[in-house]
Amino acid sequence: MPDDLPLAQGRIPNDLDSFWMPFTSAEMFKENPRLIAGAQGVHYTTVDGHRLIDGTGGLWCCNAGHNHPGITAAIQKQAATLDFAHAFGQGHPIAFEAAARVVDLAPGFDHVFFTNSGSEAVDTALKIALAYHHARGEGQRRMLVGREKAYHGINFGGLSVGGLGLNKGQFGTLYPSVAHLRHTSLPENVNSRGLPQHGAALADDLQRLCNLHGGHTIAACIVEPISGAGGVYPPPVGYLQRLREICDTHGILLIFDEVISGFGRMGTPFAYEAFGVMPDLVTCAKGMTNATVPMGGVLATAAVRDAFRDGPKAMPDLFHGYTYSGHPLASAACIATLDAYRDGKIFENAATMAGPWEDMLHSLTDLPAVMDVRNCGIIGAVHLHAEGDVGTAGRAAYAGLWDAGVIVRPVGDALCMSPPLTITQEVVDEIGARLRAQLSG
Ligand SMILES: Cc1ncc(COP(=O)(O)O)c(C=O)c1O
Repeated sequence: MPDDLPLAQGRIPNDLDSFWMPFTSAEMFKENPRLIAGAQGVHYTTVDGHRLIDGTGGLWCCNAGHNHPGITAAIQKQAATLDFAHAFGQGHPIAFEAAARVVDLAPGFDHVFFTNSGSEAVDTALKIALAYHHARGEGQRRMLVGREKAYHGINFGGLSVGGLGLNKGQFGTLYPSVAHLRHTSLPENVNSRGLPQHGAALADDLQRLCNLHGGHTIAACIVEPISGAGGVYPPPVGYLQRLREICDTHGILLIFDEVISGFGRMGTPFAYEAFGVMPDLVTCAKGMTNATVPMGGVLATAAVRDAFRDGPKAMPDLFHGYTYSGHPLASAACIATLDAYRDGKIFENAATMAGPWEDMLHSLTDLPAVMDVRNCGIIGAVHLHAEGDVGTAGRAAYAGLWDAGVIVRPVGDALCMSPPLTITQEVVDEIGARLRAQLSG
């Protein structure tokens, strides 16, 4: 292969060690390097020409499908117009335009604080919650409540409230004042279609924490309205409503981490609408730009934002921000992505395809290898019976499915899926057929 061939056309890098890969066993990766070179719509192509259905929508993020021409053009145009300007006490119009477009999509929210990732959005939301109470003279509210099995990214705050032990174990104390609700995975909910019927009462764990620590010491409770990266656990019917009630009773801010569920995955712009529960803060990222340029954000209600307006005029109202908050390229990508969602009726397609998606996943429950199937909107997990150590069956199925032409995301032995929201019946059927063939073997 000639040396000058650009990577995008298929040059296989011969040094697989320089890049310290995220959440990756370098040894296992190097045994069989899976390298993607191109993408279009719901498909990826590898460096050796293998075509795959992107069953994970990138990593829960390419909601409009890959290489959307409108988004690509907007990024190219912006890069040639204003490559970068910061927003610390100055600004650039496209960031304001992007912010207005995002909050237009989010009923009840009037403001967005821009970040560059979901992890930063989560840490920003937690800091806003602490600062909100401080501004209102309730600086004693320092405790943050998360939930077992939750994934809120990998920065210090998100890791602290997160509930996946493997992610925390290497890093010690983290944020010192944290408590966790129990997770909502219950055996009686096995193979639930959509929201499971059992488990609303688990929300009363928050009341228990209020009794134990004093509700007046808790700043915020953060949950994913539908948990994703921890293995896909839709909320039990009534659970989120109960959390809202307890938060209201004790003056606790309710944060929904919608990094995965935001931008159409439940068939509505945000999951809080689909589930009928209004949080005080929402974190988002991923589908915000169709994953083309990194961007995240925290949506805030007017009530939260207004608490910051009484300080000295010359001082920032929040001592927080990123060099790239509202980056012009990300802002352009965001606006073009929202255009693509609207013009392509992509959220509507997600709502339409949620039923066929659910039917396909639950058609697999007869397979002896399958222990549980969970789904909601265009998210799903086929949870396999363990074979030996947890993760062995999941990894083997992932590898087999890759070879068969579908990408899934193994979380332990749960095969998690979140394809682009542009999926058709044909793609759903293809994913179903390949899953059945793999899991019957
Ligand atoms: C619910 C949730 N929060 C936060 C994050 C972190 O996002 P990022 O990887 O962009 O930092 C993720 C990533 O999957 C997520 O699923």
